[in-house]
This record gives sequence, structure tokens and C-alpha cells, in this order.
Amino acid sequence: DTVGITCVPFSGGQPKGGVDDGPIEMIRFGILDQIQGMGYQIELSEGMDKYRTMQPASDPPIGNMKNPRYVGMAARRVAEQVQSHCKQGRLAVTLGGDHSIAMGTLAGSSSVYGSDMCVVWVDAHADINTPSSTDSGNLHGCPLSFVLGLCDKDEVPANSPFEWIKPCIRKNRLVYIGLRDVDAAEKVILRKHGIRAFSMHDVDKHGIGRVVEMALDHVNPDRSRPIHMSFDVDALDPSVAPATGTPVRGGLTFREGHYICEAVAETGCLVALDLVEVNPLLGDPESLRQTVAVGCSLVRSSLGESLL
Ligand code: ARG
Ligand code: MN
Ligand code: MN
Ligand code: MN
Repeated sequence: DTVGITCVPFSGGQPKGGVDDGPIEMIRFGILDQIQGMGYQIELSEGMDKYRTMQPASDPPIGNMKNPRYVGMAARRVAEQVQSHCKQGRLAVTLGGDHSIAMGTLAGSSSVYGSDMCVVWVDAHADINTPSSTDSGNLHGCPLSFVLGLCDKDEVPANSPFEWIKPCIRKNRLVYIGLRDVDAAEKVILRKHGIRAFSMHDVDKHGIGRVVEMALDHVNPDRSRPIHMSFDVDALDPSVAPATGTPVRGGLTFREGHYICEAVAETGCLVALDLVEVNPLLGDPESLRQTVAVGCSLVRSSLGESLL
């Protein structure tokens, strides 16, 4: 089997520098050798440096949205690279970068696997703000609203940097695990569209085993549909993954995070994986090492490392 890896050194979806060094730190930590060591072939997307140089000289806000052109262009390139891996039957692994790049990864994977594909979004946050509901204006809090087609026409007019994103993910094919910091406007969106979410409260109540089973039953009852998992490292508790831009207390333990990856690997349905929001600039060297290490280990688990 071949894993198609796309490295996206991109931080334009939020204000903190450093998250653009997430991919290189994971590579330094040995993620490529580790994946090869598991018996996979690797195809690496070309030109990861281009993500830095494609930043437009001028990129004023559009409404609330910050760096809209940069985010839109970068995500479009991510979509092409992920699409090309998926087309060739490779498991598409994308290393971020902030979570805004998921509008690209999901557009890319769904263009190959179609609307039957389901999305498991593991995160402290719902990342489903629309261009008008976002308070922060940070587009890493918005990727899902674009791919689900939740934006109004006037939010994404012709000539918008996001015009290329077609609605490609169905609301009943998306499920969340790990939520604990959801904006008021996002709660309204989740309720309005009946999107299924398992918060940390649900993890406490039912245990991670039952939560993952319920989540997969919702989007993929026969375990027959392709799965795209988008894993924000801030889903983990900050004691486990401290080096990230928007840490929230009360997150998944090391084992709960890995359990999700193992259970998804076990389905044999995983076609695409994002590992995002590792920010090597935040915190001391030990926090950095710990966060990069756990990011790599989640990727390996998702690829089946711990299946016997
Ligand atoms: N809900 C907040 C916002 O929209 C936080 C989003 C955090 N997203 C993330 N990918 N870490 O700004
Ligand atoms: Mn998050
Ligand atoms: Mn918040
Ligand atoms: Mn996120």
C-alpha cells in the first residue's frame, strides 16, 4: 500500500506563527521513516515550500475573514494534491498547518470518493463558523461551513477566494468527537442542521469505546463507506499535547486519542487523514517534543500500527 503525504506549512487560518513548522518538525521526528517502517510505500507531494511563498502581498479582510485570499489559494492547492493522491489509490495523509487547510483536504478527497464519504472530525472545536458567524475571523474556525455548503451566496460571492469550493460533504456524513469549546453561533448551526457531535461530556458518560462505536454507527453503519478523519491535535488534553494554538482543558487522554485512531484503522475504511495544529513555537522544548511525538504516533495508529 502507498501513503500519499501532503505537507502544508501554513498558518494563515489563525494569528499565531509556528504552526507552519508543524510538518517539518514531524518529518524531523521521523514520521516518514516510521510510516515506511510499517511497510508502506510513500509518495510525498511536491513543493511544500510553495505554501509560504504563495502569500499575497496584500490580503485585506473580507467581512470578518482574515487572510481570505491566502487561505483560499492554499486550500485550493491542498485540494489538488490530496485529490491526486486519492485518484491514485493512495491513503492521503496531510500534515498541517492550521485547520483551515481541511477545506482543501475534504474538497480533494470527496472529489474522488463522492458524497458517500464520511468525515470523523476529532477536535476540541467545531470549526463550523460561517464567514458571518465567526467572531475571531480566523478561518481555521470555519472550514466545515464551506464544504458543507452552509455559507450564504453573499458570504461566498462570485470572485470570492472560496468560490471554487462546492458543497461536497453531507451533513449526515459528518460526526464530531472531543468537542468542548463550541461558540454559541456554532451550537445554533449544529442544532439547525442536525449534525451529530460527541462532546467530552459524552466521552465521560459512555467511555471512548462506546462513543467511537456510536459515531461510526451514525456515519458508517455497515463500515463500508470511505472515511476521512480530520484530527486536530487540540482534541487531546493540553497535558498531552501542549504545543497548539488554541488549547482547551479537559480533553482526550493519550489513550483515548489513540483509541479513536485505532478503531478507525480497524474499519479498513480510512482513505484520508489530516493531522493539524501542531505548533512547535508554543511552549518549552519538552512540550514541543511531546506534541510532535504524539502527532506522529496518532498518524501511525491511524495507519494500523497497533492492530495485531
Ligand atoms: N471557535 C473559535 C473560532 O472560530 C476557535 C476555533 C479554533 N479552531 C482550531 N482549528 N483550532 O475562532
Ligand atoms: Mn481545535
Ligand atoms: Mn471559544
Ligand atoms: Mn480544529
